[in-house]
Amino acid sequence: MLSHADNELVTRTGKGTLMGALFRRYWLPALISSELEADGAPVRFRLLNEDLVAFRDTDGEVGILPERCPHRGVSLALARNERNGLRCLYHGWKFDREGVCVDLPTEPPESGFRRKVRAGAYAVQERGGAVWVYMGDPESEPPFPAYLWTTVPDSNRIMAKWIQDANWLQSLEGGIDTVHASFLHNTAAGPMTAPGAQRSALLFNDTTPVLEFEPTAYGFRYAAIRRSDREDERYVRITPHIMPASSYPPGSVGENRIWNMWAPRDDESCWAWDVCFNEVTPMSDELKEELRDYRGYYAFDPKTFVKYAGPQNMWLQDRELMRTESWSGIRGLFVQDNAVQESMGPIVDRTMERLGTTDAAIIAARKLYIKAAVALAEEGVDPPGVWEQRDYDLIRSEAYRQSADRAWRDERPLDARFAAR
Ligand code: FES
Ligand SMILES: [Fe+2]
Repeated sequence: MLSHADNELVTRTGKGTLMGALFRRYWLPALISSELEADGAPVRFRLLNEDLVAFRDTDGEVGILPERCPHRGVSLALARNERNGLRCLYHGWKFDREGVCVDLPTEPPESGFRRKVRAGAYAVQERGGAVWVYMGDPESEPPFPAYLWTTVPDSNRIMAKWIQDANWLQSLEGGIDTVHASFLHNTAAGPMTAPGAQRSALLFNDTTPVLEFEPTAYGFRYAAIRRSDREDERYVRITPHIMPASSYPPGSVGENRIWNMWAPRDDESCWAWDVCFNEVTPMSDELKEELRDYRGYYAFDPKTFVKYAGPQNMWLQDRELMRTESWSGIRGLFVQDNAVQESMGPIVDRTMERLGTTDAAIIAARKLYIKAAVALAEEGVDPPGVWEQRDYDLIRSEAYRQSADRAWRDERPLDARFAAR
């Protein structure tokens, strides 16, 4: 349970809010690289409650600017994308990817007015097939967090993003809530299992795992410890939560692993990112198709990223399917997550909830974000993970069996580089 004031603090990310300031200290994924073509149509999108426009210029480099033209506010998504700049459709002012006004044809050149106009560009990087943006103060720009999935070849990865009509936090809370998988994602025939993954029946046999935490430099990691099918063994699933708003669901080396992020779009929606990758082997086209189907990538408009399922059609829930095939009656793993998280309302009222022992990861995450945002606002403390990020490719999840008399922290010790500071 949170007080109303803390619920407001932790969910609002516009300019001038505490949580907005925290998110503006990190690199965030903005677009899939293939959305932008050199000299092609600009793309408008919203992130952290700001309306932005992205374009790929003649040199192939990406610029991200505020959507409104500095002159009189026309959308630069309507602009002409020509010779390394966006030219506003209304009066022809032109801005390059750094936000510099490179042509202002409605003023005499000798006025010097052009040099006083800027479009306030944000820092951009392209990594792992995605365009990333940093929306904070330039002097605080952190190194790029090279998540493991951004370092594998394109052939080893598929990715998608869509608009989830729920606040970023309740979406993240689904991602780090291990117990819901035993219910929501169950089928009548047994547990839903990803193509290429080990069949994880053990996940479903024990619905009261013991949750243990370890703070880390990037956020925290936790182990969900379950009974196994042998007395002398435990089934352990370790989830790293990496600030901001990302996690690796448990998996093993060689499996097709998942990375998720729920980047705040505005206070009532977020960008749900889903990357499925294999750090060892390339994925065949057939496997990629199978995975897209399993992850539910068919469930949104590929141009607008708006989902087909929502409250207006009860998230396409099928009661017949519920009787015969699946626990939820909803097809597609992520459609199931969308349904439960959106059904709470865009910003869930956390003054009303009744948390139990298996909600420990969620409680830890809320405390972490509130503490980090307050420490940043009051004492200027750098939030977790914004420094020394070059080893992020070492962070990964785990799912394994271990001897019942061993501690998971000894079996899978935290790399000293990620010790909490
Ligand atoms: S509004 Fe953009 S040039 Fe006038
Ligand atoms: Fe889920």
